[in-house]
Amino acid sequence: MDKEQYVLAIDEGTTTTRAIIFDHTGKKIVAARHPIRQIMPNPGWVEHDATEIWNAVQTTIATALIESGIKPDQINSIGIASQRETSVIWDKKTGLPIHNAIVWQSRQTSKLANELIKDGYEDEIHQKTGLIVSPYFSATKIRWILDHVDGAQERAENGELLFGTINTWLLWQLTDGQSFLTDYSNASRTMLFNINDLKWDTSLLKLFNIPEKMLPEVRSNSELFGTTKNYHFYGSEVPITGMIGSQQASLFGQMAFEPGMVKNTYGTGAFAVMNTGNKPALSDNNLLTTIAYGINGEIKYALEGSIFVAGGALQWLRDGMRMIKNTPDTDAFAKKSTSQDEVYVVPAFSGLGAPYWDDAAHGTVFGITRGTTNDDFIKATLQAIAYQTKDIIDTMNSDSGIPIEVLKVDGAATKNDYLMKFQSDLLGIPLQVSSELETTSLGAAFLAGLGNGYWKDIEDIKKNYKTGTVYEPDMDEKTRDNLYDGWKEAVNATMAFKH
Ligand code: G3P
Repeated sequence: MDKEQYVLAIDEGTTTTRAIIFDHTGKKIVAARHPIRQIMPNPGWVEHDATEIWNAVQTTIATALIESGIKPDQINSIGIASQRETSVIWDKKTGLPIHNAIVWQSRQTSKLANELIKDGYEDEIHQKTGLIVSPYFSATKIRWILDHVDGAQERAENGELLFGTINTWLLWQLTDGQSFLTDYSNASRTMLFNINDLKWDTSLLKLFNIPEKMLPEVRSNSELFGTTKNYHFYGSEVPITGMIGSQQASLFGQMAFEPGMVKNTYGTGAFAVMNTGNKPALSDNNLLTTIAYGINGEIKYALEGSIFVAGGALQWLRDGMRMIKNTPDTDAFAKKSTSQDEVYVVPAFSGLGAPYWDDAAHGTVFGITRGTTNDDFIKATLQAIAYQTKDIIDTMNSDSGIPIEVLKVDGAATKNDYLMKFQSDLLGIPLQVSSELETTSLGAAFLAGLGNGYWKDIEDIKKNYKTGTVYEPDMDEKTRDNLYDGWKEAVNATMAFKH
């Protein structure tokens, strides 16, 4: 009898790499994790060692196989979900990066982004790529590396260098240089990809002076991208049939297949993504338009709001403010607070993301009195995560014209009962927590399995849907509006403070 088959998902995130094995019912069999070092050479800069990332991926794959006892030849297919935008440039011959990868959060290319805005490129870039001009995306990061590494521009023009986001880098490594490809979702975050005609945009490449030969070919999200070299997968050649950016992966893992379905992932940052169907819907209010996924020639677009600091604010309470020992403790502290919610914390540690996009904003605190306690401060920090989410969900409602009836949520902070209840109250809609919190990996696994016949079609995947906890709102409208008005005032004052 054939041995049971499984799907392996690699979820290469900003702070952790995971390898997770799922069975045919979408059940997680094993999860292996490895942290990723954050290199911060200057204030506001964030870099990764791409070789360390590749090593960490290999370590987690080995750990997952060993711990589960699943043999390499029982892996039907591999799906790669990864942090998006983070940019690596490497030497085609040696496979060695020519510089650290510049991470999506890094602000080292702010100057270049500001020059583009000053020179009037915002509208053209928005129309073509769906994006806001920001150092967040890959284009300015590629330019930075080509400018700062001796001889890099010339070598790129000679075809000696390759660029990839992390998915492309890992695929190239797993296939030992055989496959140099990316997918729609990751390409749509580079600020070089035209999301209307699904091609690298030649005039944007010219604007950034980036040679097209260093860019990977763009494919769908579920097809054969290559097979692992047997020496990279313990004797097995396993097809890699799923590839997708982390936030689109969790949208897929949440089974938000229909237009109007929205998910929010509460990680270090938080990312709300709404499926908007087959046509790109451009936002009038600074949300990003992006490709959710493409399967069998059909593209689904999305609106996205990116919050730069969500769970990161709780890490700050732990490591910077030393108010808590562990981030989950915030739940109990918030529930002890007796304040009337008059304190506002605006955690603009890396500027403000959607819908404000203010790179220069710094964090602020408002409304403290002699009576303010740790509990109140912690509660206000949790509330800031919910307020930022409301900023985005309200904008999505008005940009898409589709009323959002339920918010699907995942990520570590969904275990925080206070936050989830407050979020539901503030939005005035139910919150549905995913039964599997590793939705990013699950999305990558579904795409890989679909691409290799492990699951037949989307209907087959839907059979695996299980609902988790549901939070229902019960806050009255007046209280909600009053709280939110205070938040708006706090954000406006934060953006005005430029000392
Ligand atoms: O856009 C950045 C995002 O992809 C971060 O991903 O996987 O670290 O949550 P992750």
